[in-house]
Amino acid sequence: MSVFRPGLFSGKVAIVTGGATGIGKAITEELVSLGCRVVIASRKEDRLHAVAAELSPGGRNVIAKPCNIRSEDQVKSLVSSTISELGRIDYLVNNGGGQFSAPVASFSLKGWNAVMETNLTGTFLMCREVFNQSMKERGGAIVNIVIDNYRGFPLMAHSGAARAGVENLTKSLSVEWAESGVRINCIAPGIIYSSTASKNYGDLNVFEKSKPGIPAKRCGSTREVSSAVCFLLSPGASFISGDTLKVDAASSLYSPQLLQIEDHKNWPEAHDWEYKPQEEADETRSSNGA
Ligand code: ADE
Repeated sequence: MSVFRPGLFSGKVAIVTGGATGIGKAITEELVSLGCRVVIASRKEDRLHAVAAELSPGGRNVIAKPCNIRSEDQVKSLVSSTISELGRIDYLVNNGGGQFSAPVASFSLKGWNAVMETNLTGTFLMCREVFNQSMKERGGAIVNIVIDNYRGFPLMAHSGAARAGVENLTKSLSVEWAESGVRINCIAPGIIYSSTASKNYGDLNVFEKSKPGIPAKRCGSTREVSSAVCFLLSPGASFISGDTLKVDAASSLYSPQLLQIEDHKNWPEAHDWEYKPQEEADETRSSNGA
């Protein structure tokens, strides 16, 4: 169960880019569990359809729409087809992105531009289209997933720079779009374990190695990010816009030179919950006589 009340997002429609894997999949699951219908969009068509079928066996609540967010035409048709098929767009979560690890001195212009286009331009295109086609008239809420780049982002400097651009874009849009009733914020996750991220990092054991630098002495879970996204989309955040919420258990503030925190087990456990597809949950409720 989500920590939020059942039905919180009943009747609402969200687009989640990168919504089939890792943090994006957790966001999709939690939104769906709270009654939202979610369009998941990314380039990997097979995986999108498989995850939509997994999360919504009847196909009602999770809809797969292949889209390269770098393409203006594809973004326009993602947004217009969502409105024509689902009738509305209430929320946008810009989670799709990517980068590779390398020192700046070795970057090619092509590699630099690719990271800028996916992370910064893709977010700009998604925000602009959702605003122009829907939120300008109807309002809504947007969450941009960035990264914990408060000490720069060495070895992924292109991504650090692009996400800093997204944070500043978010501030501008929070003011430009206020009179349409649009709220827009960022979430900056710290070190979050997911099987997708683990595969991407190969056998570097990055999660285990990161623990000493995290005051909580554990990594975050994807559910700890999705609950923060749900909060920012919800009426509970109705006076919050233009801001960034770090979900990092104070990692970005921690300097062991000032205060060394030994390993401990006192941090609250992640509120992990098991997701059940809605149709199955309905069946369980009726077979329980509820
Ligand atoms: N996730 C990573 N890169 C992407 C892209 N170009 N389009 C959509 N989702 C993505």
